[in-house]
Parts: sequence; C-alpha cells; structure tokens
Amino acid sequence: MKQRAYIVGIRSGLALLLALLVVLPGQTAHRNPPAAECPQPRFTGRAPEAVYNQVNPLKASRSNRRAGRELYEEALQPACADCHGDSGEGNGPLASQFEPQPRNFACAETVNGIPDGQLYWIVRNGSPGTAMPPFDFLEDEEIWQLVLHLRALANHD
Ligand code: HEC
Repeated sequence: MKQRAYIVGIRSGLALLLALLVVLPGQTAHRNPPAAECPQPRFTGRAPEAVYNQVNPLKASRSNRRAGRELYEEALQPACADCHGDSGEGNGPLASQFEPQPRNFACAETVNGIPDGQLYWIVRNGSPGTAMPPFDFLEDEEIWQLVLHLRALANHD
C-alpha cells in the first residue's frame, strides 16, 4: 500500500513537470508583442528647423557603433530596447501598453525618411503626450552614437 502511494506520487510529480515543460516555453515566446507595422503611422512633433537638418557629426566607426548599441540595449533605465525591442521592431517587453506604439526602427521605409537631427531631437526631448521619455541627461556624443545604432537597426547590419 505504502509503496503504491509513493509510485502515484512520483507519477503525478512527473505529470506536473511535463505540464510545466510544455507551458513555460510557450509563455516566453509570447512575452513580447508582435513587431509594429511597417511603414508605421507617425505623428511625432517636428524638431526646430536648424536641428532637423543636422547631419550626424560622428563616423560610423566600430567604437561609436558599439557605444550606441550598449546605450540602446542596456546602459539606460528604462533601456531603449525595453520599449523599441532589441532588434528595433517596436516590440520590447513594455511596448504593448503604449499608444502610440514605440517607433519601429527595423522598418527602413519609416526610418530612412527621418533625418538624423529629428532622431537626435526626440531622443533628447522625448515626444510629449507619448511614452517616449526625454533623455536630456545624455551627452551630445552619446545621442549621436544612439542615432548611429538606430540607422544600423534600419539597415539590419
Ligand atoms: C518607455 C518606452 C520608451 C523608451 C524607454 C524609449 N522610447 Fe523611444 N519611443 C517610444 C514611443 C511610444 C515612441 C513613439 C512616439 C511618437 O509616436 O511620437 C518613441 C519614439 C521614438 C523615436 C521617434 C522619432 C520620430 O521622429 O519618429 C525615436 C528616435 C526614439 N523613440 C528613440 C529612442 C531611444 C534612442 C531610446 C533610448 C535612449 C528610446 N527611444 C527609449 C517609447 C520609448
């Protein structure tokens, strides 16, 4: 009798383990919302003319690009990637709660139409009335490094 109860215990333990193995990977796969539309509707305020027309003064050197990537993915709190997604698809773990949605940087059609100066301006000042926060504590150089990374995401390189 005792032994039997023990075996039943093992069997239900195994069943629970199996159920977890089936359920858990499914949950991680659904953690991020689907990628944002491409082209993506965009109603973001426009930078002042002088800034709008600025061209990124930094070279797309290996070190600038690495710095931009680190800032985007992990150096800040919240990180750009928390909203915009690691690959820039606008589907980071926080994205689904926001309307309008985070910009989809993986969409070249949208991003290629936005000048460097406009990207710079919104990173520094945020987009009022949306979830995009101002990152006004960053050095100019850091924002331009971020802009290099946004271009890299759009070009998928
Ligand atoms: C809390 C979420 C959140 C975080 C963190 C965040 N963004 Fe955004 N971002 C948004 C949303 C939402 C929009 C869309 C705003 C709009 O439609 O005007 C946006 C828009 C933008 C734009 C659009 C500019 C344009 O003119 O279309 C740029 C550039 C941008 N974000 C860069 C960044 C960078 C770089 C970081 C990190 C330094 C960052 N964002 C962090 C939510 C976020």
